[in-house]
Amino acid sequence: METISHVVKVSLPNYLSGLPIPDSVGGWFKLGFKDWLALIPPTAIVAGLGYMSYQSWCPEAKKAIKARVNHKVKKDVGKVVDTVDVEDITEKAVFCRCWKSENWPYCDGAHAKHNEATCDNVGPLIVTKKK
Ligand code: FES
Repeated sequence: METISHVVKVSLPNYLSGLPIPDSVGGWFKLGFKDWLALIPPTAIVAGLGYMSYQSWCPEAKKAIKARVNHKVKKDVGKVVDTVDVEDITEKAVFCRCWKSENWPYCDGAHAKHNEATCDNVGPLIVTKKK
């Protein structure tokens, strides 16, 4: 406990008082290279704490953390829904399930590149017509 007390009451204040923080806005422009280097660690710590707080408390950040599967198909709509008339399928239709196809909703083989890059195993849905 004595160590923590010393860090909080002596070491940290001494460190912070030694930082080259200017007294005016114009003082920031007068800082030298070594001054800027000295400001990097505390700035990184403050930015890291701010980012972790943002991730912990902001509901919008929590939504963003969840992985998205759709990065490009119809991003302007709330929900991507496609309808294909089964009568339009002549012999078979191959539908994309990886959300990477440039020919949405049909598979163009882009899943292979995605699988190779991510070690995933996604592939298309193939609909065939009974003969
Ligand atoms: S391109 Fe998406 S499943 Fe083939």
